[in-house]
Amino acid sequence: MRQQIAAANWKMNLTYGQGQELLDRILNENIVLSAHQRAVFAVPFPYLVMAYQRLVSKDNYFAAAQNCSDKKSGAYTGEVSAEMLRSIDVKYCVIGHSERREYFGEQDHTLAAKVELCLENGITPIFCCGEPLSIREVGAQNSFVETQLREAMFHLAEAQFREIVIAYEPIWAIGTGKTATSAQAQEMHAHIREMLGRKFGKPTADNIPILYGGSVKAGNAREIFQQPDVDGGLVGGASLQAEEFITIIRSLK
Ligand code: 13P
Repeated sequence: MRQQIAAANWKMNLTYGQGQELLDRILNENIVLSAHQRAVFAVPFPYLVMAYQRLVSKDNYFAAAQNCSDKKSGAYTGEVSAEMLRSIDVKYCVIGHSERREYFGEQDHTLAAKVELCLENGITPIFCCGEPLSIREVGAQNSFVETQLREAMFHLAEAQFREIVIAYEPIWAIGTGKTATSAQAQEMHAHIREMLGRKFGKPTADNIPILYGGSVKAGNAREIFQQPDVDGGLVGGASLQAEEFITIIRSLK
């Protein structure tokens, strides 16, 4: 079975102590993940080592970064490189979140460089895509998302692309409490998979986890994750509450 992933994105929330407590409460549940399931925690950079130390002994639990530099190394004050992340054993990195595109001006060619640097360092990019409301309202979401994927990833060889995780996050559903219906999520995920199949071949496309993000919570996770092309979620607000995220992990197929 394709990998199913419950990914927390803490964004710029929680103090160090609050982060420790949240992770401990979730881990104390001792949820045993099946071979195809993963729980991933994208925490702020200063918490990565703490998260790694808590998660490393648990099968299929991983710490993730929320971003990395598009440069390899050097005089880039304030940046964190993929190589640095590898040196502390980080296995996943969120790339191209809509908040980074919108507030930090990240563009497709920058994201292409980040994806490549992650792959070179053995880090799985969780590549985010998704349309704003104005695009959804005119029904242009499929071509919009297709362009995002093409510009940042279609230069990869098929063997490289196999390592990617995709997160579809319609911007109008992020932090708004307005979830895409499970039918809307399934429709876009199927479209993404079909588009990937055309480029990289069906066996590869069938194996890529595609997560849904946007107001996922305990109360709707199971229904969304049950959709055949939805392979779990990338969760913001609800990942900050232990009980919510525990239920979300338990909702994986
Ligand atoms: P919310 O779950 O808060 O809507 O955020 C989604 C998201 O942006 C995850 O990356």
